[in-house]
Amino acid sequence: MKPKIYLAPMSGITDLSFRLISREFGAEQCFFEMLDAKITVCDHPGSRRPLKTIEKDTPIAAQLVGSDPCVMLDAAEKLTTLLDITFLDINSACPVKKIIKKGAGAALLQNTAMLGKIIHTLSSRLQIPITVKLRTGFDKRDIKQCVNTAELCEANGASMIFIHGRTRSQGYSGIIDYESIKAVKDAVRIPVMGSGNIFAPLMAKKMLDETGCDGILVARGAMGNPWLFRNIEHYLQKGETRTRPALGVREKVLAKHLAYIEKYNDMTDRNKAGYIGKVKKWYLKGDVSFSQTGQT
Ligand SMILES: Cc1cc2nc3c(=O)[nH]c(=O)nc-3n(C[C@H](O)[C@H](O)[C@H](O)COP(=O)(O)O)c2cc1C
Repeated sequence: MKPKIYLAPMSGITDLSFRLISREFGAEQCFFEMLDAKITVCDHPGSRRPLKTIEKDTPIAAQLVGSDPCVMLDAAEKLTTLLDITFLDINSACPVKKIIKKGAGAALLQNTAMLGKIIHTLSSRLQIPITVKLRTGFDKRDIKQCVNTAELCEANGASMIFIHGRTRSQGYSGIIDYESIKAVKDAVRIPVMGSGNIFAPLMAKKMLDETGCDGILVARGAMGNPWLFRNIEHYLQKGETRTRPALGVREKVLAKHLAYIEKYNDMTDRNKAGYIGKVKKWYLKGDVSFSQTGQT
């Protein structure tokens, strides 16, 4: 079966403008930026900002971060009445200290009883699929523990597992643990999607070949490079790589991305200027330093 190629959730990055550009270049499924279950429930004035969407921004999923099953359920019920989401993902991967301190994100990898309870509560009360985003471990690599966590997610009603092939301690750098992802894929019956170092078509193929996973999440690789989605698809079908688009082509797509930001981002002018500067750098920087064939 054709592997799934989704745009990964990335806080502060995968807003409406980023999703629209990614979709135009082949991202088949996107996520809203991660939502804090407590803020969503509070109806905090800023809480609706990340939920900005338009008709062609589909199919779309949401991701909740939290540690209390009741709060998570409240937030999920609100979300599903407000929005038409294809599935709801539970974040058990976020390494940020502020989130870990609250017992949420990757902290749930150390409290799998609570993770199971959250998944069970949401999957038994909601009509949409509940998925989970994991990392391969918290402090250290432990394949057995990683497989146990994935099996617990499946047993509690998860419909799909996204797994970032790094531990919480690794953050966003270091090698990808394909072996743990493969062990998870072999252990569960639900689909497993691999994440980590998908910066080039060869790296996407490496993830698929080494783990046998059902699809991949494209994350940082899509920044300033929305072509990556189609390039991966092309490479998987034909075995051919494509060169980076010429500067003029990149400038045209950048202009479109900036027009979406102008139209859809309700930021202060100062924040918008900073954000636009960041997006320009993504498209115009020299060739990325990530190896085309291996790991960074
Ligand atoms: C700036 C940034 C924000 C991220 N935010 C989230 C998030 O909100 N939820 C989540 O599940 N993963 C988040 N991630 C992790 C990505 O989804 C992905 O798993 C990770 O970057 C590994 O993929 P890569 O090495 O191909 O970038 C974030 C990553 C980055 C770089």
